[in-house]
Amino acid sequence: MDFGGKDKATYVKDTFNSIAVHYDLMNSLMSLGMDKHWRNFAVQRVGAKAGMQMLDVCCGTGQLSMELGKAVGSEGHVTGLDFSQKMLDVAKQSLIQSPNRDSIVFIQGDAMELPFSDNLFDGVTVGWGLRNLPDLRQGIREMARVVKPGGKVVSLDMAKPSLPVFKQAYWVYFEKLVPLMGKIWAKKSSAYQYLHDSAREFPPQQELVRIFAECGLSETHYDNLAGGVVAIVTGTKPRK
Ligand SMILES: C[S@@+](CC[C@H](N)C(=O)[O-])C[C@H]1O[C@@H](n2cnc3c(N)ncnc32)[C@H](O)[C@@H]1O
Repeated sequence: MDFGGKDKATYVKDTFNSIAVHYDLMNSLMSLGMDKHWRNFAVQRVGAKAGMQMLDVCCGTGQLSMELGKAVGSEGHVTGLDFSQKMLDVAKQSLIQSPNRDSIVFIQGDAMELPFSDNLFDGVTVGWGLRNLPDLRQGIREMARVVKPGGKVVSLDMAKPSLPVFKQAYWVYFEKLVPLMGKIWAKKSSAYQYLHDSAREFPPQQELVRIFAECGLSETHYDNLAGGVVAIVTGTKPRK
């Protein structure tokens, strides 16, 4: 992929800084309003319950962190981490209206080197984040490092539908319509071209399950959502 002469991390950070204020609207439009439902499924899969301590990596505007916040309640705690200051600014603004604001904190940090000790969190999520990392395996290893033994690591991301016709229609939508929508609503077609290109390059859900296992997670599996347009990949840190 062409990052315009920048390294991938710088390109990704600049891209998300430039679309932060339009990000939530674009997400709802592109997913036809299904993104909230997908995030709720990820919250279920990570097993978030009242009183738990959760980490949401690449939290962006904090939508998934806030869903986790509802699940852990006032006795629990959610940390959302992202390296884009502009995405975090939107997250902090949305948090003001959240009933669970006291149990959620947003911090700036790098998913490649999480600023936490080992075995700290009851569960770790990443929503549409792994695709953006310069080293996918390093990102998964970091999430596996900071989750407690028995805790889950969950990725929600673009996947590869396999149903003929639906598959072709999906890629036409993603290749032609999404960049056009990005141009109209976010005034930034290149960012949405990157979305398409990064989704094309991202390993299919079956392969991501294998990579989760390679990174030390067990009981790895995936759930297809919306016909495999999106998938949730889950792994558990072994208790030894
Ligand atoms: C597509 S957004 C996903 C936001 C959010 N998780 C959601 O559910 O909508 C990807 C996010 O990953 C962040 N990101 C990419 N690489 C990162 C890294 N190395 N460290 C921290 N955040 C990163 C970007 O800044 C961006 O906010």
